[in-house]
Amino acid sequence: MAKTRTVFLCSACGATHPRWNGRCPDCGTWDTLESFREPPAAATAASGAAHGGVAEIWVDPAGAAPVVKATALPDIETVDVARLPTGVAEFDRVLGGGLVPGSVVLLGGDPGIGKSTLLLQAAGRLAAGGRRVLYVTSEESAVQTRLRAERLFEHEPGGGLDGLADLFVLADTSLPRVVEQARQVRPAVMVLDSIQMVFKPDLEASPGSVTQIRRCCTDLVYLAKVSGMAILLVGHVTKDGQLAGPRLLEHLVDAVLSFEGDRHHAYRIVRGIKNRFGTTLEVGLFEMTGHGLRELADAGALLDRSLPTRPGAVICPAVHGTRTLLAEIQALTATGILGAAKRKVSGLDTSRLAMLVAVLEKHGGLRLADQDVFVSSMGGMKVTEPAADLAIALAIAGAHLRRAVPSGTAVVGEIGLGGEVRPVHQLEARAREAARLGFTRLLVGRGGAGTVRIPGLSIEAADTVSDAIDGLDVSSSGGGSASSTRRRRG
Ligand code: TYD
Ligand code: MG
Repeated sequence: MAKTRTVFLCSACGATHPRWNGRCPDCGTWDTLESFREPPAAATAASGAAHGGVAEIWVDPAGAAPVVKATALPDIETVDVARLPTGVAEFDRVLGGGLVPGSVVLLGGDPGIGKSTLLLQAAGRLAAGGRRVLYVTSEESAVQTRLRAERLFEHEPGGGLDGLADLFVLADTSLPRVVEQARQVRPAVMVLDSIQMVFKPDLEASPGSVTQIRRCCTDLVYLAKVSGMAILLVGHVTKDGQLAGPRLLEHLVDAVLSFEGDRHHAYRIVRGIKNRFGTTLEVGLFEMTGHGLRELADAGALLDRSLPTRPGAVICPAVHGTRTLLAEIQALTATGILGAAKRKVSGLDTSRLAMLVAVLEKHGGLRLADQDVFVSSMGGMKVTEPAADLAIALAIAGAHLRRAVPSGTAVVGEIGLGGEVRPVHQLEARAREAARLGFTRLLVGRGGAGTVRIPGLSIEAADTVSDAIDGLDVSSSGGGSASSTRRRRG
């Protein structure tokens, strides 16, 4: 019999190495290599026996194993991938229209963010639509799942748990038993909440270890392929340990979605990190309520328009896939230590902030070297596109000079290293959304003013970051202190 090979697997990037190292040679992270027992190569090649008995348990309806043969490209028969919409429209949007049969989707996110809630809601909608679903919970009991479902489905159109006869619940942690139940139930979709808690009893490694997670996931990918069911996996992200995180599994699954949001706010965002069947630009928006997650088809709800215009807060129409969301960028500057001033972001790109601070120093006439600069995108919404540059710059300048963007103004533009403000793509969509949510003025980059016309919205251009700062309201200055005055340029 072939020998089991031991390799070392990086829990941060998933790379395998023949030898142990203090630092992963691939991604450079320290102390992340863990020993991993690879299944014997001969067994893998043979029949999938390495898949912990998935092949044995799963009796192929066709009987014999399919003949594997290379095919000329034009001769490959196309099959329409009929997507299976979950019925939760915002979730389907991120999936690219629905679940693809035979695919494996991993949903990652911090504990308590709402992963189980989302998947139980999706499972319920699928079952109500006549699809058979197996919901495997390895963390909660079947009773807990029922109680949660009662709360979630109370207000659904069907009402209560009637009509959910196609939703099967299994509370188990042993992978072979899960596979056996999947064989009996034959669901169209299987949910496994969570991958960290299931284990294969034939492995020596403990549940939750790299070896277990990785091997269980490989088996599940194999199961999805042979059975045609779509599998949704839940993966936790721990603070420091990508051990439990999706990074380890990214290579194995078809799609990785991340469930984000501020636990202290009700808004939640599902974002695609990898998707073999769709774009990763789309985001799904939800609000956590007492009866589960409510879909937010209108992204305007994310923005609190009741707040007055104030220095350091700037609204930017950011594009996410096919949708424009108005993001609120907030900045704060405070006197720090010269040479060791802090630059911190939340929901934004750190290196982009460093560049913008440098541009503000050089071309905006601000002195920020001794200032701690904090910038965040409110509500947990990640904004990483360069189109948010101008909004970030004006939030910092506004906070520092205590001058606000004029009321009713949204801001969008990319800033170059020369301090010039450049036009952005999809200006029309951004302008439309700003106008729809009641903004009357949109500040854009050079040359962007005449290109789009939206009734009720005046589109004005700022050529340089310095011009844009000059356009900030002076009225709200409240008397800038000595440190927050602007140097004269020239
Ligand atoms: P949960 O789905 O259990 O999170 P995860 O599986 O990601 O760990 O949901 C966690 C939080 O959501 C929990 O703190 C309670 C809250 N919640 C609601 O506010 N309303 C609800 O209807 C449900 C089911 C949960
Ligand atoms: Mg959970």
